[in-house]
Amino acid sequence: MVALARSRRSLPKRDDLSPFAADVLEGLGETPKHIPAKYFYDERGSELFERITEQPEYYPTRCEMQVLRDKATDIAALIPQDAAVVEFGSGSNKKARLLLAAAPHLAAYVPVDISGEMLEREAAELRADFPKLDVLPVVADFCYPFDLPQAARAAPVRVGFFPGSTIGNFEPHEAAAFLRNAAKILGANGKIIIGADLVKPVEVLNAAYNDAAGVTADFNLNLLVRMNRELGGNFRLDCFEHHAFFNRERSRIEMHLASLKRQKVKVAGETFDFRAGETIHTENSYKYSLDSLRALARGVGWLPAGAWTDGQDYFSIQAFTYVEEPGRLRPAE
Ligand code: SAH
Ligand code: AVI
Repeated sequence: MVALARSRRSLPKRDDLSPFAADVLEGLGETPKHIPAKYFYDERGSELFERITEQPEYYPTRCEMQVLRDKATDIAALIPQDAAVVEFGSGSNKKARLLLAAAPHLAAYVPVDISGEMLEREAAELRADFPKLDVLPVVADFCYPFDLPQAARAAPVRVGFFPGSTIGNFEPHEAAAFLRNAAKILGANGKIIIGADLVKPVEVLNAAYNDAAGVTADFNLNLLVRMNRELGGNFRLDCFEHHAFFNRERSRIEMHLASLKRQKVKVAGETFDFRAGETIHTENSYKYSLDSLRALARGVGWLPAGAWTDGQDYFSIQAFTYVEEPGRLRPAE
């Protein structure tokens, strides 16, 4: 996520600011302007993301659900008896329930999300539908180390689940850092199951991030609403426009908020100048190949343990096992 990269040019973070305010001040102070994608997910942002997944153009969710439905038994076979599954960026429980139904031998399920409201609601539904399973939600930013609940720490093995191609919202070096952190959190003999969107014709990619109903545009613009509400901003929504396009060289969809005119905007106590057409870069969504994700994972100690795609090869699910090597960061026992 544009998120974690702390610019070398930037000043140290001020302790008196919330992480959101500090990241916004830092990102808007740089050229090009950017804001970490994780701030999309306030309550309204999480709702809008769910609506995106229902749009006819947004294929990733449908394709990944198809792989999970078709291959649930094979995927669940990778999960050892009494393991705990830790889902990173769980959002809606609809993918988890496919995996959980195929893995009745699980001891605990730990959904982790930055968006607390949705996390509790979705966990309550799962508890009702899987009464024998320990469902233990954790509100955390998964880019940083966080503690797992005791029941998950006590399980013989922990298996990460990272669906939705959220890994694509990281810069590749951040994805590698995430996988290193995941290895530490999951500990000895950890495994991880990752959903990643695949490279495909540019028209399909561009349409998925420019749906006709304008839901993705609303999701992007909601970041301005959030800054106005939480950081005392005065962004005018009619003075910014949603831009999303596939950058073939970098193999990523870029999302931006483009200023429709020259303007000054105040937020978090500072004023920022925008040129007409200048953008705030709000998200990257990298598209991988099976091999490029495998290479990235292998570089930080995760070895391939399985790979599945949908019928069109639009979306992939890959599994990896962590192999400790001398000199690598050792996961916590
Ligand atoms: N896994 C779901 C949701 C994907 S949307 C699916 O496949 O449909 C991305 C999810 O990750 C959102 O629920 C968002 O709140 C969460 N998220 C994004 N950045 C995060 C971060 N840094 N730490 C924790 N959760 C994060
Ligand atoms: C959560 N993430 C994988 C989505 C994606 O496709 O990159 C977020 C999203 N942004 C716009 N549409 C959906």
